[in-house]
Amino acid sequence: MSIVVTGATGQLGRLVVESLLARGADPAGIVATGRRTEALQDLADRGVDVRRADYADPASLREALDGAERVLLVSGNEFGQRVAQHTAVVEAAVDAGVSLLAYTSAPHAATTPLLLAAEHAGTEAVVTASGLPHVLLRNAWYVENYTAQLPTYLEHGMVGAAGEGRVSLALRREYAEAAATVLLEDGHAGATYELGGPAVTLAELAAVVSEVSGAQVAYTDVPQAQLVEVLVGAGLPRPAAETFADVDRGISAGELLVPTDDLARLLGREPLPTAEAVREALAG
Ligand SMILES: NC(=O)c1ccc[n+]([C@@H]2O[C@H](COP(=O)([O-])OP(=O)(O)OC[C@H]3O[C@@H](n4cnc5c(N)ncnc54)[C@H](OP(=O)(O)O)[C@@H]3O)[C@@H](O)[C@H]2O)c1
Repeated sequence: MSIVVTGATGQLGRLVVESLLARGADPAGIVATGRRTEALQDLADRGVDVRRADYADPASLREALDGAERVLLVSGNEFGQRVAQHTAVVEAAVDAGVSLLAYTSAPHAATTPLLLAAEHAGTEAVVTASGLPHVLLRNAWYVENYTAQLPTYLEHGMVGAAGEGRVSLALRREYAEAAATVLLEDGHAGATYELGGPAVTLAELAAVVSEVSGAQVAYTDVPQAQLVEVLVGAGLPRPAAETFADVDRGISAGELLVPTDDLARLLGREPLPTAEAVREALAG
């Protein structure tokens, strides 16, 4: 079986490839792709088929997906261009006649007002309209989105606008393992999985980060408009600041809450409790 993973040069895609290998998939049957293929040399050394794929270059996508049976399309990170870019991947998958296309999306993508989810909704529509057997992996938030900011928290505290809202969190590694399950097992075509681990308020998360790191991280809740100014003051362009502040509005409204056990079912175990996930993320 030939399994193509896009975004393998990135953090999630790399972990998907590692999970496929750890489960005994034939390295020669895994195609790891990205633009920065130099980041994949170690995988090539282990027998993985490394190919260059640029979502903005349809010819590269046709070559990368040549012979593919199953494809994981990892959503890109060039905001504003992603529906067109992802559409090019879907078209290459149609040309290749793949038997499964999985896409990493966002919680409740088709119905949520969350700004960050708009391109995921657009991509989901393209994937669905393609007629390909597909799986939508609607990943909730990575624990690492927060733990990676520990140095900033130590300097300025954790500032947010999520109020008492809860966000479902899991490690990238857990979402990656779930994606690998979908790629390796039969029977997932047609599914939309809402994936997430335990849900916490940002104040609870700050307490867990404090407990695990031994540092004092206090959470301060501010109005959404004030959070935008804080993020602009920290150097973010205003549109990005507004999009990130909208995530906290979404958390306060329950839009990042995943009340399913889909992740546990795909993992075959419960996702890690928040404290253990934070410990692993900080150690990484
Ligand atoms: N659920 C969450 O909490 C959350 C948080 C952040 C991001 N995300 C989404 O999940 C995706 C994966 O997360 P991650 O942590 O692995 O992100 P990441 O480390 O930034 O990786 C992004 C990947 O997308 C690839 N990519 C971007 N533009 C591309 C293009 N034009 N053509 C080909 N590949 C392209 C990059 O490859 P090259 O640079 O080598 O081309 C890289 O492999 C992100 O891209 C984003 O859409 C989700």
